[in-house]
Amino acid sequence: MLDTNTNRPELPPEIARRRTFAIISHPDAGKTTLTEKFLLYGGAIQMAGQVRAKGEARRTRSDFMKMEQDRGISVSASAMSFDFGKYRFNLVDTPGHSDFSEDTYRTLTAVDAAVMVIDGAKGVESQTQKLFEVCRLRDLPILTFCNKMDRESRDTFDIIDEIQENLAIDVSPASWPIGMGRDFMGTYDLLNDRLELMDRADRNVVAETIEINGLDDPKLAEHVPEHLLEKFLEEVEMAKELLPTLDPQSVLEGHMTPIWFGSAINSFGVQELMQGIANYGPEPQPQQADPRAIAPEEKKVAGFVFKVQANMDPKHRDRVAFMRLASGHFKRGMKLTHVRSKKPMAVSNPVLFLASDRELAEEAWAGDIIGIPNHGQLRIGDTLTEGEMIRATGIPSFAPELLQTVRAGDPMKAKHLEKALMQFAEEGAAKVFKPNIGSGFIVGVVGALQFEVLASRIELEYGLPVRFEQSQFTSARWIIGDKDEVEKLVNANKQHIAHDNDGDPVFLTRLQWDIDRVERDYPDLKLSATKEMM
Ligand code: G4P
Repeated sequence: MLDTNTNRPELPPEIARRRTFAIISHPDAGKTTLTEKFLLYGGAIQMAGQVRAKGEARRTRSDFMKMEQDRGISVSASAMSFDFGKYRFNLVDTPGHSDFSEDTYRTLTAVDAAVMVIDGAKGVESQTQKLFEVCRLRDLPILTFCNKMDRESRDTFDIIDEIQENLAIDVSPASWPIGMGRDFMGTYDLLNDRLELMDRADRNVVAETIEINGLDDPKLAEHVPEHLLEKFLEEVEMAKELLPTLDPQSVLEGHMTPIWFGSAINSFGVQELMQGIANYGPEPQPQQADPRAIAPEEKKVAGFVFKVQANMDPKHRDRVAFMRLASGHFKRGMKLTHVRSKKPMAVSNPVLFLASDRELAEEAWAGDIIGIPNHGQLRIGDTLTEGEMIRATGIPSFAPELLQTVRAGDPMKAKHLEKALMQFAEEGAAKVFKPNIGSGFIVGVVGALQFEVLASRIELEYGLPVRFEQSQFTSARWIIGDKDEVEKLVNANKQHIAHDNDGDPVFLTRLQWDIDRVERDYPDLKLSATKEMM
């Protein structure tokens, strides 16, 4: 049967109840706090504060993680599953710092929707804007949470206007704040005609809800003091005239975002937002793939790796590949085909991420994220299927914006260094290029901080002190085109050529002029700033 809203087949209930999403925000807007409250309402943790506490306990296990902690940056992304009513939420964490935007980008290929958290006093900040633009590329549905309303914040219309203008998306209020800063007392739920009153005394308590029979219900005046009520009614009147009403189809298409106002730290507005994710966040969506798209309702299992993370358990030095299930019903122990190598792979100890504890996954459905411990076979962009040679697409690798050469402190350890660099390249933590001329490696990253993280990890994990040095090159481009033509370019420009860790040729550049020259002299070749991971 076709679903009348989406024109797609109705999904099996186990798949239809899944909501897989990420939170995008600028650092400090309240992503961690909101995540904590999600887990609290999802019954995954007993007490708010545990995510942070556990996070810190885990981080102290290695000095590398300590470095992250000192800098207040969350480098590691993970996935968390929890239930909300009849729904199963999969929240994929995105690293917030701009130096790790490539990782974030790939994480966003694994979700069906994003929750955008903004600080009510600050509005749309730079990192939110960047991440939003990434979501826009895939027309991801976005639900907005305007946080910290318990503090002095901007005028509600101002905030909404800023989102509409800066992000070019329609904004429809799902709730409306009453009072502001110290006077903030709660919100009016415009979708359900309810008054939600915040309890400042107990941060973990669920808001008091009062059913209201429309805005002229005298009950409003019983709960809202006169000076706040008047302003509130005026604003809602204006909002109804000026702002669009919620159109679920437009939300699904990424043209409209509903906005909820709340205070994550006071657990306020969080449940309404969760209900919003359940109601408006889409079911698992089809995955683009070559030679055909993968539909979630297909009986056979297919999934793709969007992230590889080492150091999850320093004792075992294992790596975990995060796989998004694109279709089917996965059961533990299944034998899947690793499409890149065409080899079978038994997935016997997959993990689900319940709150911050790992747990063995007995089964998973399309939309879920599972972790597959492995020793390096699985790379970002890999597809696993039940035999079909099909490859998920759209998981890009970006040209690095910063290049440095790297040398081992001890020249005898060059082989070790190569091994370490290959590991990081496969994790997607850096690009590694071996120049055709000369010794050593050139490492490329998106943000400068990644060099420090890499140096620290190579020393910790491989016992190898390394030096990063200025490179004469500033950028790298993959050479795409006919083999003979590529060879001609390679032979005529040896000093500019290197190979990446997959053996693909790249052109190293000093200036934009280098790129222009190649494009002029070799009109049939393309110098590309991105490469599909496969
Ligand atoms: P992030 O993950 O987006 O970086 O933000 P995080 O949740 O860590 O929140 C950043 C700061 O904002 C924290 O304060 C947090 O307590 C505070 N915060 C989050 N939600 C609200 C809210 O609704 N109202 C108010 N007033 N503050 C909020 P901190 O001082 O940096 O950390 P902490 O000592 O409180 O943990």
